[in-house]
Amino acid sequence: MSSAIDREITDWFDSDGLLLMKLLGVESGQRVLDFGCGIGGYAIPLADAVAPDGRVFAVDKNSDNLGELRKRLSGHDHTKCVSIRHTDGGINLHWLKAGSLDAVLVFDVLHIITDWQTLFGEMRRVIRRGGALYVNPASLSHPGEVNVRALMEVLPSCGFALDYSVLARAWHYHKPSTEEIFVFCAV
Ligand SMILES: C[S@@+](CC[C@H](N)C(=O)[O-])C[C@H]1O[C@@H](n2cnc3c(N)ncnc32)[C@H](O)[C@@H]1O
Repeated sequence: MSSAIDREITDWFDSDGLLLMKLLGVESGQRVLDFGCGIGGYAIPLADAVAPDGRVFAVDKNSDNLGELRKRLSGHDHTKCVSIRHTDGGINLHWLKAGSLDAVLVFDVLHIITDWQTLFGEMRRVIRRGGALYVNPASLSHPGEVNVRALMEVLPSCGFALDYSVLARAWHYHKPSTEEIFVFCAV
């Protein structure tokens, strides 16, 4: 990764990334799953938001991306708040207890996964009642790849109610972008 990109992502972690997590309502002490965390564009700001006693479960099926996340976390202030889990791409979250999380973040992953019903059913199982599901379907950076209307139908059937959506500065691959982010409540 070039040093210019390195500087940009470091700026993102330290400023807008943390601001976005706070805007979404992530708080110190919370337990949050980042499903499909990639290189950690959100897992690292999440760690800063839940520190010092909260926990981020950063999950991905791509070991190269997780390797990059590990590199970025080494020397980071809140490394201890992050548990990294490499999966085989299964969407079963059996390793998390029912109602054990305050929130789940699923950003820019839904264009890859087809079985939303199972995915969101599992997410609802692990989030406590009243907890949050943050969804970025990346519909602005990948127009047409995710059927947002279908998403809005599936989520209520899995026990989530739409709270609000917001246009926000987000992180997409190796650069900032604007995305529409949907915030659901586990009912
Ligand atoms: C486009 S990247 C987005 C990364 C990060 N969420 C972000 O917004 O910067 C999609 C990530 O989802 C991961 N992914 C896709 N399907 C997955 C699955 N079934 N289980 C775990 N990770 C998955 C990919 O490996 C990849 O790292």
